Amino acid sequence: MCGIIGYTGSLVAKDVLISGLKRMEYRGYDSAGVAVQDGEGLHLAHRVGKVANLEEAVSGGFSQGTCGIGHTRWATHGRPSEQNAHPHTACADDFAVVHNGIIENFAALKEELIQAGHVFSSQTDTEVVAHLVEDAYQGDLLEAVRAAASRLVGAYGLAVVCAAEPGVIVCARKDSPVVVGVGKTGALVASDLVALIDETRDVVVLADDTFARLSYQDGRGSIRFCDAQGREIHPEPTHVDWDISAAKLGGYPDFMLKEIHEQPRTIRDTMAGRMVNGHLQFDELSLSVEELSAIDRVYIIACGTSYHAGLVAKNLIEAWSRIPCEVEVASEFRYRNPIVTPSTLVVAVSQSGETADTLAAIRDARIKGAKVFGVTNVVGSPVAQESDGVIYIKANKEISVAATKSFLGQVVALTLMAMLLAQVRGGLTINQIRMLFRELADTAGQVEQILADTSAIDAAAQACKDAASALFIGRGIGSTICYEGALKLKEISYLHAEAYAAGEMKHGPIALLHDGFPVIAVATKSPTYDKVISNIQESKARGALVVAIATEGDTEIANHADHVIYIPKVRDCFSAITASVPLQLFARSIAIARGCDVDHPRNLAKSVTVE
Ligand code: G6P
Repeated sequence: MCGIIGYTGSLVAKDVLISGLKRMEYRGYDSAGVAVQDGEGLHLAHRVGKVANLEEAVSGGFSQGTCGIGHTRWATHGRPSEQNAHPHTACADDFAVVHNGIIENFAALKEELIQAGHVFSSQTDTEVVAHLVEDAYQGDLLEAVRAAASRLVGAYGLAVVCAAEPGVIVCARKDSPVVVGVGKTGALVASDLVALIDETRDVVVLADDTFARLSYQDGRGSIRFCDAQGREIHPEPTHVDWDISAAKLGGYPDFMLKEIHEQPRTIRDTMAGRMVNGHLQFDELSLSVEELSAIDRVYIIACGTSYHAGLVAKNLIEAWSRIPCEVEVASEFRYRNPIVTPSTLVVAVSQSGETADTLAAIRDARIKGAKVFGVTNVVGSPVAQESDGVIYIKANKEISVAATKSFLGQVVALTLMAMLLAQVRGGLTINQIRMLFRELADTAGQVEQILADTSAIDAAAQACKDAASALFIGRGIGSTICYEGALKLKEISYLHAEAYAAGEMKHGPIALLHDGFPVIAVATKSPTYDKVISNIQESKARGALVVAIATEGDTEIANHADHVIYIPKVRDCFSAITASVPLQLFARSIAIARGCDVDHPRNLAKSVTVE
C-alpha cells in the first residue's frame, strides 16, 4: 500500500526521494514525508496529501544532504495527518523509519516501550519500530534493525537511517516488497523498482527475513546483505528490461487514458511467443502434461479487478475443458476451508503480485497440496515467487490506480491458459485452438478501432454524469464485464454503480429504476442477445436511460436504447476484451466530467498489502 524509498549517493537526496515518491504515488497518497541526513543530523518534513505538497515544503531551505529516506502513505493505523506521516522518529530525532506493511503486535510493543520510558508522538504502528531500533542501538544500525525486526509480528518493508551513521541506510523485509540496487550515483532502496529505474536496471528483490545495508563511500554505492541470524548472504541481482516510458505520461492527460491506449500492445505482448509450431507454449508452467491432465477442479483466486478477469476465465475453462472452475475473492477463500486437494489447480491472479489476501490464499492452497499458477504483471513479485508456475502478463508498469491494461492482459493470459488446458485434455482440437489464437490476436486491432473514435462513449457519459446511481446489466460473458464496468465507475467517479446478471433484474434491481436512471447494458451479439434486448425493453418501460454496448452492424438495438456504443464483431468468448474498453472510457469520461482525479481516487491504493 505505502511506498518507501531511500537514497545514499552524490546527489541531493530530497530531489531523488521526491522524484521516486512521485512514481510510487499509486501506492498511497494520504501523506508523504522525508528524512534527510547531513552533518548536522536528521532533517524531517511531512505533509498531508500528495507528494506535490511535500515537494513544495522542501523546495526552499531544506537540507542538501545526500542520504535520506521517504514515504508515501495509505493510512491504516492512525488517520492521515502530519503527525502520523512517515518517517517516524524515536524519542529524539536520531533515528528515522519508513515502513510499508502492518505491525500486528504493535499495541503490546508500544505498551512495553512506554513502560520503559519511551514517549510516542503518533498513532501509527510504525513508530514502535523507531523506538525498538533506538533501544537496540549499540553503534551498529544493521544490528539494531535486526534486533528490532526479531520483535515484530506482521508485514514490513523498512528503511531506517540514524544520525550517528552518515550515508548509511538499513532495510528489512517480511511480506512487503523491498528492492535495492547500486546505481550510477549511489545506492537505492524502494518498494517498487519504478523508483530505481533511472539509476539502475540491476536490482535485488530482498527475500523475506533478510536485511540490506546501503552505504556510499569514495564515490561508490555499495550494499551488504545478511539473513535474520546476521550471516552474510549474496543474493543474485535481477536485470529489469522495463520500458521507462511507462512511468511517464507521454502527452496523455492522465495515466488511466494512457494505459487504456496501451491495451492493444498489451494483448500483442502477452500473446507473443505463445504459439510455437502450431502448439501453445508455456515453458514457465512447471506442470507436466500428466499433472495437467489429472486436474479435476480449478479455483481462480484474486481481488478487485483481477477477480473480474477470473470470472471471464471461468466461462472459458468450463466451456473448453469441461473442468469445474470456481472463482473466489481471496479474502473469502483463505478463511473458509474450501475443497482443495492435490488434483486442484489454483490460479492466483494479481496485477501487483503482492496483494496480501491473494498471497495468503496461495499459501493455504499449497499447504493443502494444490498446484498454484500465478498470473501477474510484476516480475519477481511474491505471487511469482510463491507459485509453482507463473504467467506474466506483459502490460508493463501500470500506474493509474484503476486497473485497465492489466485487466485486459489478465483476460488474455487466462484465455491462453484455458486453451492450454483444453489442448492437454482434448477439449479443443489443435485446429480449433489455432483459429481461436488467431482471433484472440485480432482483438488487438479491434481495440485500436474502438480507441480511434470515442465520441459515442463521451456522449453517453455526458448523459449519465449527474446521476446518483447506475445499473450495469448483461448475460454470460457480458455480465462478467458489467462487474468490472461498475467497479471502474465507482472507483474513479464516486458514482454508485451496481452490476447484475440481467436475468436477475426482475428479482430486485428493477425496483431502483425511474425516469432517467442509467442502465448500461452489454448487448453484444451472443447466444443470449434476445434476452438482453428484453431486459433493455423492461428498463425502458420504467423510464431508464439505456446505454447499450452493441455489435457493429446491429441497427435493431438503436430502437431500444438511448445511446448505442458500437464495437467490432468478435466471437462471444472474446467479447470481454472488446466490451470492457468502452466501459473503461465511459467511467473515465464521467469521472473527468465530475471533476475527479482519475489516477488517484480517494481512499484507494493500487496494491493492497494489508488484509
Ligand atoms: C486494489 C487495486 C485494484 C486491484 C486490486 C487487486 O484494490 O486498486 O485495481 O484490482 O487491488 O490487486 P492485484 O494487484 O492483486 O491485482
